[in-house]
Amino acid sequence: MRAFVLTKYGGPEAAVLRDVPRPSPRPGEVLVRVHAAGLNPVDFKTREGKLKVVQRYALPVVMGNELAGTVEALGEGVTRFAVGDRVFGRMAKAAMGAFADYAAVPEDVLATMPPSLDFETAAAIPLAGLTALQALRDELHLRAGSRVFIPGGAGGVGTFAIQIAKWLGAEVTTTASPRGKALVERLGADVVIDYTAQRFEDHVSGMDGVFDLIGGETLEQAFGVVKRGGTVVSVAALPEPQTALKDLGRGMGLAALFWAVSWRLRAQARKHGVRYRFLFMHPSGAELAELGQLVETRQLTPVIDRVVPFEAIGDAFAYLESGRAKGKVVVRM
Ligand SMILES: NC(=O)c1ccc[n+]([C@@H]2O[C@H](COP(=O)([O-])OP(=O)(O)OC[C@H]3O[C@@H](n4cnc5c(N)ncnc54)[C@H](OP(=O)(O)O)[C@@H]3O)[C@@H](O)[C@H]2O)c1
Repeated sequence: MRAFVLTKYGGPEAAVLRDVPRPSPRPGEVLVRVHAAGLNPVDFKTREGKLKVVQRYALPVVMGNELAGTVEALGEGVTRFAVGDRVFGRMAKAAMGAFADYAAVPEDVLATMPPSLDFETAAAIPLAGLTALQALRDELHLRAGSRVFIPGGAGGVGTFAIQIAKWLGAEVTTTASPRGKALVERLGADVVIDYTAQRFEDHVSGMDGVFDLIGGETLEQAFGVVKRGGTVVSVAALPEPQTALKDLGRGMGLAALFWAVSWRLRAQARKHGVRYRFLFMHPSGAELAELGQLVETRQLTPVIDRVVPFEAIGDAFAYLESGRAKGKVVVRM
């Protein structure tokens, strides 16, 4: 079968299209015939070797973290799906493999595709959608009347986050360039700050929480816009001890390392009386089914920047790496 394979850690040349054997589903796994797969910044960060501390793959390995397709075969003990079902999902945490004609996926990370969705749209949902849901609902505990600041609203995660925060009843302030302003407004953002022309810290204050998608100086300034007692959740900065213990299920060794690397950020957060949390999202078929229901009932609309044929996946990577995507980039098999 065709696959996009990571052969070494490095630049664009490190991942290549090649033929590899079709995987066989192990017990509890479903063999999915992939129709579409979503791209995410984690793909090029993995290729560059930036995530080796969290996940080290034996190379060569088929890349890709999320997919939509049809069930081709069932591993032993699979009960939730039947051959021919249309499914979508985020690959298991320590596994990739979505950029291929077939992928073997644990059944518990898959959900049935909403009937109204096409494969490209379904493939755009799992990673970014689950990240936004888990950050806003489970970490920031947004509810009716909450005020949340989401720097970076126009990208893959941001376009889900704005809509999910509105669905939870929150008032949303976000940042976007003039290129993304109309999009984030259409998705429901209440206040939009042009980050290319204004310093958000001069205009935003008293937030209950921040969901940071940018990191760096943006995150450091974001600590100052939250009420004392509030929380700043980032998915784009440095991990902290809870990332190791809660998100990755790892031990005190990695927690201690993350304690050290996040020391300065946590000190800045403490100075403002807020809590810093770095979330590493987790795959979940059950939560994905919730997102599917929101899409089916038109309370959530995935935003797709472009769909690219699988043969041009290198171009899709280059576009995502430019950092300018508006919504999601998807490959069609
Ligand atoms: N920890 C986790 O589990 C997890 C999960 C998902 C994502 N992430 C991380 O979250 C980050 C965002 O992911 P994504 O998929 O949303 O990325 P993305 O789709 O590549 O984001 C691109 C968007 O960001 C906007 N942008 C760039 N710089 C900005 C700035 N300084 N302020 C405001 N907006 C800015 C761009 O708008 P303009 O072109 O208009 O400037 C563009 O629309 C990445 O670092 C990713 O690795 C982590």
